[in-house]
Amino acid sequence: MGSCEKEQTLMKFDGPVIVGAGPSGIAVAACLKENGVPSIVLERSNCIASLWQHKTYDRLKLHLPKQFCELPLFGYPKKFPKYPTKKEFVSYMEDYANHFEIRPKFNQSVVSAEFDLKNGVWRVTTQDSVYESRWLVVATGENAEAVMPEIQGIEKFEGVVRHTSEYKNGCEFENKRVLVVGCGNSGMEVSLDLCRCKASPFIVVRNSVHVLPREMFGFATFGIAITLLKWLPLRVVDKLILFMANLTFGKTDKLGLRRPKTGPLELKNATGKTPVLDTGALSLIKSGNIKVVEQGVREVTKKGAKFMDGQELAFDSIVLATGYRSNVPFWLKGSDFFTEEGMPKMPFPNGWKRKNGLYTVGFTRRGLLGTTCDALKIAKDVTDQWRSMTCTSKHEYRSK
Ligand SMILES: Cc1cc2nc3c(=O)[nH]c(=O)nc-3n(C[C@H](O)[C@H](O)[C@H](O)COP(=O)(O)OP(=O)(O)OC[C@H]3O[C@@H](n4cnc5c(N)ncnc54)[C@H](O)[C@@H]3O)c2cc1C
Ligand SMILES: *[C@@H]1O[C@H](CO)[C@@H](O)[C@H](O)[C@H]1NC(C)=O
Ligand SMILES: *[C@@H]1O[C@H](CO)[C@@H](O)[C@H](O)[C@H]1NC(C)=O
Ligand SMILES: *[C@@H]1O[C@H](CO)[C@@H](O)[C@H](O)[C@H]1NC(C)=O
Repeated sequence: MGSCEKEQTLMKFDGPVIVGAGPSGIAVAACLKENGVPSIVLERSNCIASLWQHKTYDRLKLHLPKQFCELPLFGYPKKFPKYPTKKEFVSYMEDYANHFEIRPKFNQSVVSAEFDLKNGVWRVTTQDSVYESRWLVVATGENAEAVMPEIQGIEKFEGVVRHTSEYKNGCEFENKRVLVVGCGNSGMEVSLDLCRCKASPFIVVRNSVHVLPREMFGFATFGIAITLLKWLPLRVVDKLILFMANLTFGKTDKLGLRRPKTGPLELKNATGKTPVLDTGALSLIKSGNIKVVEQGVREVTKKGAKFMDGQELAFDSIVLATGYRSNVPFWLKGSDFFTEEGMPKMPFPNGWKRKNGLYTVGFTRRGLLGTTCDALKIAKDVTDQWRSMTCTSKHEYRSK
């Protein structure tokens, strides 16, 4: 240490500092730009929407129809399909950033951010710079870090172990027996992808899971739910959706996919757990191409896994579809605004603003719709403050 420590450049900034150049950070910067408020976006990676560009599988498409995944002020091209591919989504993000001339600073990994009470500014530190601003917008996402479960013995496993954030496609798993741990949307879609690549996936379904058809009678299930919720209580909508899911799929219990006692929307509202929207995995479970293991993994061995009920199966590879978590607690200092899990303590729609010019965008468990909602509110709030500040006070701050 000491001798190789580099000098850090200090940059004072009139507008907000936004941490994260995913859809959320870019959306806030765009809305501010539209109002004439400058901002600076700091991104640890080397591109915008890095989650989508670097950490998702090739087969990924938007889970919801595009009209539910639009960022503010600038929509999808008409020619895009109903469920844009990952490539299309990334190109939308690039067009969006270009349209509003948002140029993030890449390779800026925020390691700490702290409010300086004396000077009334946020001090945001990256690996080589310090930024100061009156406003801090946290846009690092619910999916900042891969969750790696602690499974006994996993270090002894002789095959490949891969988190879904590093899974691109099933090519390398051809003719392999693959244990997929986790049965959310990613686990189901990776299992489907493995099948199509002639691998043999086994998906662990330890607890219960709601699998719903992505569409019913040609309408997106998500859209149907939103429409019905305007008229009916949540529990009634849950009953209707489960009734229609049953019409489409039949009983899923006997496939090893037990449904939770709580309905899908109620569960989502209470815990944030998203139902699986089926894109083809279910029929492969029915046909036995994807095998369901209704047991938690007790232990991984050199060549396979032992399950809670004692059965032992051989596997060549393991894919961890165990999700992601926020990293806010690691770098945001002295804030009691976030839970230990790095989510705002105030639930949606009230989680976007905190005292001292602190904002959060995209921590709603409501995907890009939630992002849009937050971004518009943040931009309005900051713009109002920006406009009410006189020119002199701005300059005063700058010359400090
Ligand atoms: C596989 C998958 C599919 C999804 N499909 C949909 C869908 O169809 N519809 C939908 O609405 N939502 C979907 N989502 C939800 C997803 O949360 C959003 O799509 C969106 O990517 C969230 O945007 P964000 O900007 O909040 O977070 P992110 O896209 O994760 O962007 C956060 C950015 O912050 C950067 N960052 C993190 N920490 C730091 C740091 N300390 N310093 C600097 N930069 C940092 C990251 O590198 C990243 O670029 C999906 C998520 C996943 C994982
Ligand atoms: C990112 O920053 C680090 C140190 O701040 C530097 O060593 C590295 O070369 C940079 N990477 C790129 C791709 O610019
Ligand atoms: C689901 O559908 C089957 C027929 O396919 C029916 O026997 C069963 O009662 C239905 N269950 C529910 C909960 O609607
Ligand atoms: C949704 O969750 C909140 C708490 O997170 C709760 O107050 C509310 O009653 C729930 N709504 C429904 C309809 O269950």
